[in-house]
Amino acid sequence: MVIAVYPGSFDPATYGHLDVIKRASVSFDKIIVGVLHNSAKSPLFSVEERVNILEKATKDIPNVEVKPFEGLSVNFARENHAQVIVRGLRAVTDFEYELQMAQTNRVLAQDIDTVFMTTSLEYAYLSSTIMKEVASFGGDLSKFAPPEIIEAVKQKMPKDKQIK
Ligand code: PNS
Repeated sequence: MVIAVYPGSFDPATYGHLDVIKRASVSFDKIIVGVLHNSAKSPLFSVEERVNILEKATKDIPNVEVKPFEGLSVNFARENHAQVIVRGLRAVTDFEYELQMAQTNRVLAQDIDTVFMTTSLEYAYLSSTIMKEVASFGGDLSKFAPPEIIEAVKQKMPKDKQIK
């Protein structure tokens, strides 16, 4: 049984993240999505909200579980008996940071491998940051995330910026 963790901020999840989760759920027996609780950052959504959003968005994929975590991703992987860390790679701009992180994780934990999934082309430009930027100006979010997530983002925006 090969268990993979997919750690990230997911503030909030986008179609890009959901695409990686869906595809990884085919390649691994179990995917545990790890939502980072990072007290140094001030996310739009609390860790509980981000977990909740992801649980709803992945409810139809039976081998996916969503959990909050703090600290190192390799420790989260170990605690969940995972052999693999999954990360999505959108473009070459992601590569340097992702490679450094994967190499650091490998130094920290030789028994855990990072597997990169190339993001589907239609989501290659997409990030939670981009979605929040568009939302902050009242733009159309329909290409970025499912309706429930868009609704959650809308609720966080000041009333005068809300999308019709
Ligand atoms: O969605 P993100 O913000 O790109 O995810 C980054 C994340 C959460 C995977 C990364 O910051 C992380 O693993 N943080 C936990 C601390 C850690 O393990 N760092 C890796 C060693 S460099």
